[in-house]
Amino acid sequence: MIKIARSWPVGSPLASNTVPGMRSALDTPQGAAELAESLLSQLGNRWLHTQAVAARAQEAAAAVPQADRDLLVAAAWLHDIGYAPEVRDTGFHPLDGARHLERLGAPARLVRLVAHHSGAAYDAEQRGLSAEPAVHEREDSPVLDALIFADMTTGPAGQSFDFGVRIDEFLVRCEPGSEAHTAISKARPYLGAAVDRTQRRIAAVTSLPPSQRAVIDGSGWWPPTLFAVEHQDAELLARLLDAGADPDEGNGAPPPDARAGHGR
Ligand SMILES: [Fe+2]
Repeated sequence: MIKIARSWPVGSPLASNTVPGMRSALDTPQGAAELAESLLSQLGNRWLHTQAVAARAQEAAAAVPQADRDLLVAAAWLHDIGYAPEVRDTGFHPLDGARHLERLGAPARLVRLVAHHSGAAYDAEQRGLSAEPAVHEREDSPVLDALIFADMTTGPAGQSFDFGVRIDEFLVRCEPGSEAHTAISKARPYLGAAVDRTQRRIAAVTSLPPSQRAVIDGSGWWPPTLFAVEHQDAELLARLLDAGADPDEGNGAPPPDARAGHGR
């Protein structure tokens, strides 16, 4: 039997908000892409990077519960809007982006994901801003992991990079001893663990035939190992574990019935 380890929120209990003049809510891929394009499309490589991170997040969507897949892709579109001149305030882009989304009435989970994307707390500590991201509680979840994966495997001009290459490339651009250099060096184990967890989730889910994935998605159980345990399917469980699934993951998550009514 899999033992209880941790749980995380599935789906947002908060209403989706649509910004006047936009067709879709900010926590949908369409709405997020519209806002990102309006803020970043003139910023050259930043826009190329953003589009590639969103595409990478879409590819990694199997690593999060079905109810959270739109939120993941929306967060990927919006994670770097704090670099936009109209949004820049403190100069710390995760915080500036999160505050802008709050002003627009974005759902709280989306705000928190942007505030904490890619180890922002490590950067904040170096800048003496530790109290700022802490205002937004960090959700340690498959969604944040997958957002880190998408950002940390995409280069500054949208290149597809392995995690190690991405970090090394970043360090080369920073002055040794600088705030950014120190922050990314300290964050490296945290970021690498999130990337690894996401890759294991993707490997486990994609080891299954599409029809079985659809059944599991439709069941509301997450991760698929819990579905296997609940349905006493030893063959499925063995297959998932062979493919890399974490046997401790997701235990303690409520059953699908208990989550009813918490969808977006
Ligand atoms: Fe980024």
